[in-house]
Amino acid sequence: MQVTIKTPEEIEKMRVAGRLAAEVLEMIGEYIKPGVSTEELDRICHDYIVNVQKAIPAPLNYKGFPKSICTSVNHVICHGIPSEKKILKDGDIMNIDVTVIKDEYHGDTSKMFIVGKPKPGTERLIQITQECLYKGIELVKPGARLGDIGHVIQRHAEKHRYSVVRDYCGHGIGKVFHEEPQVMHYGKPGTGFELQEGMTFTIEPMINQGKYQTKLLPDGWTVVTKDHKLSAQWEHTLLVTADGCDVLTKRTEESF
Ligand code: MF3
Ligand code: CO
Ligand code: CO
Repeated sequence: MQVTIKTPEEIEKMRVAGRLAAEVLEMIGEYIKPGVSTEELDRICHDYIVNVQKAIPAPLNYKGFPKSICTSVNHVICHGIPSEKKILKDGDIMNIDVTVIKDEYHGDTSKMFIVGKPKPGTERLIQITQECLYKGIELVKPGARLGDIGHVIQRHAEKHRYSVVRDYCGHGIGKVFHEEPQVMHYGKPGTGFELQEGMTFTIEPMINQGKYQTKLLPDGWTVVTKDHKLSAQWEHTLLVTADGCDVLTKRTEESF
C-alpha cells in the first residue's frame, strides 16, 4: 500500500484546492430549486471552476465520466450524472459532489441539499449522515486507525436504524484523485491503517434509509439503492496534523 505523506509545499496546494472545492458548494446553493435541471447546475459549477477559479473540474472525463460534478438525487447513492432530463422537484434530496484540481492537487467535498419543502424523514437522514461524517472527523489524529473511524460511523448510522453502504468508500487524495488508503465507513476499533501526520484523505459516508445493497445502472456510473429507498452522503477532504486534523474543504457555515 503506497500511502503518500505530503510535504509542506504539497499541503499548501491541498489547502488551496480544498478551499476552492468548498467555495463551489457555497456558490451553488442559491440555484437549487424546483424546476432546475441537474445539467444546469453542472453548467454553473463548470463555468465557475474554469472561468472564476481557473481550476479543473476533476470528474470531467475521469475514467469517461461525462460531466463536471456528480448530482445524486433521492435513491441515487453516488456518481449521479447531471442531465437536462433530470428536473428537480419539491421535496427531492440531492448530493452535489465537487472535486477540483488546482496546481495539480485535488480537493474533494460533497453536501446534501433539500429542494423546496422537505418530505417527512428526509431531514433526519441528512442530519444523521452529517453527524456520521463529523464523528469520523473527530477521531482523526496521528495514531488513530481507520477501523476506529469506520466503527464510529457505522455505530451512529445503525443506532438510528440506517445502513452503511459497503461498496464505495473514502480515499487518500493528492496529486492522484483516488489513492491509498481506502477509507471504509464501517469497521472494528483498533484495526486497519494507522494514521500519520501529513496524510490527506476523504471521509464520505453514504447512509441508506433501507438496506445497504447497491445497484449500478446501465450508464456505468449511477449507483442506486437496490430497494430504491433514500440515501444521503457528505464528504470532506482532511489533513492529519500533529494533534488532530484540518478540514481542508470546510465551508464558512461549519465550525471545526
Ligand atoms: N467525487 C467522488 C468521490 O468522492 C468521485 C467521483 S468520480 C466521477 O470520490 F467520475 F464520478 F466523478
Ligand atoms: Co471522494
Ligand atoms: Co467526492
